[in-house]
Amino acid sequence: MVGMISGLKFHPGYLDLAAQQKLLAELRAAVITAPFLTPVMPRTGRPFTVRMTNLGTLGWVSDRGGYRYQPTHPETGKPWPPIPEMVLEIWRKLGGYPHDPEACLVNFYRQGAKMGLHRDADEEDFAAPVVSISLGDTAIFRIGGEERGGKTETLKLSSGDVLVMGGAARLCYHGIDRVLSGTSSLLKEGGRINLTLRRVRKP
Ligand code: SIN
Ligand code: MN
Repeated sequence: MVGMISGLKFHPGYLDLAAQQKLLAELRAAVITAPFLTPVMPRTGRPFTVRMTNLGTLGWVSDRGGYRYQPTHPETGKPWPPIPEMVLEIWRKLGGYPHDPEACLVNFYRQGAKMGLHRDADEEDFAAPVVSISLGDTAIFRIGGEERGGKTETLKLSSGDVLVMGGAARLCYHGIDRVLSGTSSLLKEGGRINLTLRRVRKP
């Protein structure tokens, strides 16, 4: 139950199966140019359990040097593929922000992958929301307040769901406790893909 967090807007089932399949096909084409990579934590070099790639003019990366946005894929050196039009349309309809996102982080959760509580705070512009689109197996999403260690709540994110974190929810701690395998047949091998759209620079 996340009804108490202001600025958090949940759109369950926003994408029907046909739209989910179309988006998946777009992603399959994009990862040919921008393959998933395994990011590591700054300093410790500990690998993430989630694999990542990006779409858009800027992509979020994490390596021993830190977290940052950059215009190219760290392994291929090529620009990230463009954000598909259908994804931009979701941002324009639900984001309530007059400029397009620059970054679309694509997270791939295989069996056992999760994401610790964190805030999306590497952007210059917190006036824009974060828009998150889920595909594949259902995840247990956890969200708290703006301070670490506060009370948290959970929400199940299933294939086709869209979550908008704007207003007071923009800087809330959030993460993925776990992914429930076998809950969706969208991805043949199972697992979950999450797209996170963000405006990085001030327009
Ligand atoms: C993220 O916070 O980057 C991803 C959240 C999710 O996978 O739903
Ligand atoms: Mn995040």
